[in-house]
Amino acid sequence: MTSKIGLIGFGYWGTNLARNLARLAGPRWRYLVDASPERRRAATKRYPDVVVTDDLDALLGDDEVGAVLIATPAPSHAPLARRALAAGRHVFVEKPLAMSLADAVALADTADRSGLVLMVGHTFEYVPAVEWMREYIRAGELGDVLYLHSQRLNLGRIQSDLHSFWSIGPHDVSIANHLLGTDARWVAAQGGRYLHDGVEDVMFVTVGYPGDVVAHMHVSWLDPAKTRRTTVVGTRRMLVYDDLRPEARVTVFDKGAEPVEPDGTGVRRYRLRDGAVHVPELSTAEPLALELAHFLDCVRTGTRPRTDGWNGARVVAVLEAADASLRAGGAAVAVPRVEIPGSARTRTDDASLDLTAAAS
Ligand SMILES: NC(=O)c1ccc[n+]([C@@H]2O[C@H](COP(=O)([O-])OP(=O)(O)OC[C@H]3O[C@@H](n4cnc5c(N)ncnc54)[C@H](O)[C@@H]3O)[C@@H](O)[C@H]2O)c1
Repeated sequence: MTSKIGLIGFGYWGTNLARNLARLAGPRWRYLVDASPERRRAATKRYPDVVVTDDLDALLGDDEVGAVLIATPAPSHAPLARRALAAGRHVFVEKPLAMSLADAVALADTADRSGLVLMVGHTFEYVPAVEWMREYIRAGELGDVLYLHSQRLNLGRIQSDLHSFWSIGPHDVSIANHLLGTDARWVAAQGGRYLHDGVEDVMFVTVGYPGDVVAHMHVSWLDPAKTRRTTVVGTRRMLVYDDLRPEARVTVFDKGAEPVEPDGTGVRRYRLRDGAVHVPELSTAEPLALELAHFLDCVRTGTRPRTDGWNGARVVAVLEAADASLRAGGAAVAVPRVEIPGSARTRTDDASLDLTAAAS
């Protein structure tokens, strides 16, 4: 019996994972490991039936544990995931998968060779609004995508050990990769350091995709207005995803600029189209519940997760290239292509997402 589950990290995000784990896995959730005595006390109080410890070996040494979830700070992701995979456990790890592309690729490769599930917590790829947009784009309803821009801003959750693009930027990169269905080719990044030495509190990052598609990503924890918005502009229509508007998370604008017949002057002219606005009805399921249900399902069936290690590596490739661009004063830097060894596949298979699985 290897159906038991362990969670490492009971901080801000770990508590959200724990809430969903308790609901979805029930008594199969056996262990909670946290380095902080205060967080362990909080966990024991909230989940008295779970073994709460600071000893990772207790979890990894229990043969009944088949899967491990990691929600610790980013620099510890790769070392903890490596240990858990080496111990033969399926692993769910929060974003970013690792702090270097080499580590990310090694983890993805290890999981594949060992026949283990490795899934990265790219939560937004489980958001019904993002899924709806992806399908809408794939159906050609937006026309050709021209560009994207996203803003992930707030005053707070200031980090001191990694900059804003490593901290919150993985969401925007994973959303862009997912919506476009392809991988980034180049990155140009600039940022400002104001609160901690060597840590960019705000970053302005432009990511280039095939077909001259650009995605501009603005992330900051030093901004007056909480904003979680992605705009996608296509040749036929445009759409806005605003995660802070539950009544209208996605708005489709039937707007565009259409070429008019040449008038002989040689000047290309456009007519602006300002048509209807459409707000689609979307599932209200909690993305984290969908994400976790997907992981548990993949563990049960041995299926490759949508956001597998390679998906995580492709995001890390962009983050690492952004660092290189920062060092180069904002110059465009090529993003290395993430190839899966022994396979022609470079993108994750399109496992469909069951939006009803965790909705109840
Ligand atoms: N998917 C999302 O939307 C989302 C949102 C927020 C945070 N996160 C991710 O979740 C992770 C945790 O972020 P957070 O904001 O909860 O951080 P946090 O600092 O609030 O919590 C981290 C917890 O891990 C514990 N810890 C640290 N190192 C440990 C170790 N080696 N072994 C055991 N316990 C250890 C700490 O004591 C703390 O309780 C980060 O990777 C972050 O990127 C994801």
